[in-house]
Amino acid sequence: MLLSGSLTPEPTADGSFTLFSEDFGEWFHSREGAYAEAYTTYVEATDLATLAQRSCLTLLDVCYGLGYNTAAALATIQRVNPQCRVQLVGLELDPRVPKYAIAANLTHGWPPAVQAHLKTLADTGSVETPYLSATLRIGDARQQIQALVQAEFQADVIFFDPFSPPHCPELWTVEFIQQVAHCLHPQGKLATYSCAAAVRTALQQAGLAIAPLAAAGRRWPGTLAQFDSTGLPPLSLQAQEHLATRAAVPYRDSSLSDDADTIRQRRQQEQTQSALASTSGWRRRWLKGGGVGE
Ligand SMILES: C[S@@+](CC[C@H](N)C(=O)[O-])C[C@H]1O[C@@H](n2cnc3c(N)ncnc32)[C@H](O)[C@@H]1O
Repeated sequence: MLLSGSLTPEPTADGSFTLFSEDFGEWFHSREGAYAEAYTTYVEATDLATLAQRSCLTLLDVCYGLGYNTAAALATIQRVNPQCRVQLVGLELDPRVPKYAIAANLTHGWPPAVQAHLKTLADTGSVETPYLSATLRIGDARQQIQALVQAEFQADVIFFDPFSPPHCPELWTVEFIQQVAHCLHPQGKLATYSCAAAVRTALQQAGLAIAPLAAAGRRWPGTLAQFDSTGLPPLSLQAQEHLATRAAVPYRDSSLSDDADTIRQRRQQEQTQSALASTSGWRRRWLKGGGVGE
């Protein structure tokens, strides 16, 4: 994909900044608060503060963007256990984004040491200190993830933060999510803001158990995914019924290289032929005129 569209900064409700991507036609974060989203939806949902009590921790930040999810994680680990040795890999398509975040001082709210790491990552693609080994891999995450799978990379925590499925279907396909799941440790946790039925189905088809998570600044819960379902809160009846409708037909991209239009059209065709119930009946029953993002 050719990235040439503008990136426009905009303040969010908690004083932090987000960007609007002309290429994807979407905001990078909830306008209710970009910092709040990084902390609540990713760090708190995966209980990172508890995991950071260990001597080492491995993190995968899918769609690094401005680096806010990475920053919230590093700030939390630094606060609760600065001796924890962290290995972190960030995946990002657009090299302009992390650099812009630094140049425009959009990272000013993070602790100084964390800001310094974000700057080094944006400038050089890696950080090496006695307690942090971080790499920012620039390129299509669909290719980057295959290299991580081959290297048998195993993350304790995965932050999964692409643009929404209608705007960026290529990163919500069964095949891509299967590759991501290969990089999740058997006891690891994956967090995403999305509750789309197509996303939840793809996570399940990758062998993961799913649960709702409290997502900051959004009307709907996000999704926590892990291999072991023990202790996970159940999905609401509404969410379970959503998974039995055509909204749950997942995106597919068996070559991990199709463009967004092809992936969207493929899903639409599969939905037309699907024996699943229509989603409009579900929406009428549960939402009384409201809508839930697919
Ligand atoms: C919602 S934003 C992520 C926000 C980010 N987590 C943050 O804290 O700033 C989605 C990001 O995905 C990136 N992206 C889009 N397509 C991608 C792809 N195929 N591979 C890797 N990154 C991609 C975009 O450039 C953008 O930075």
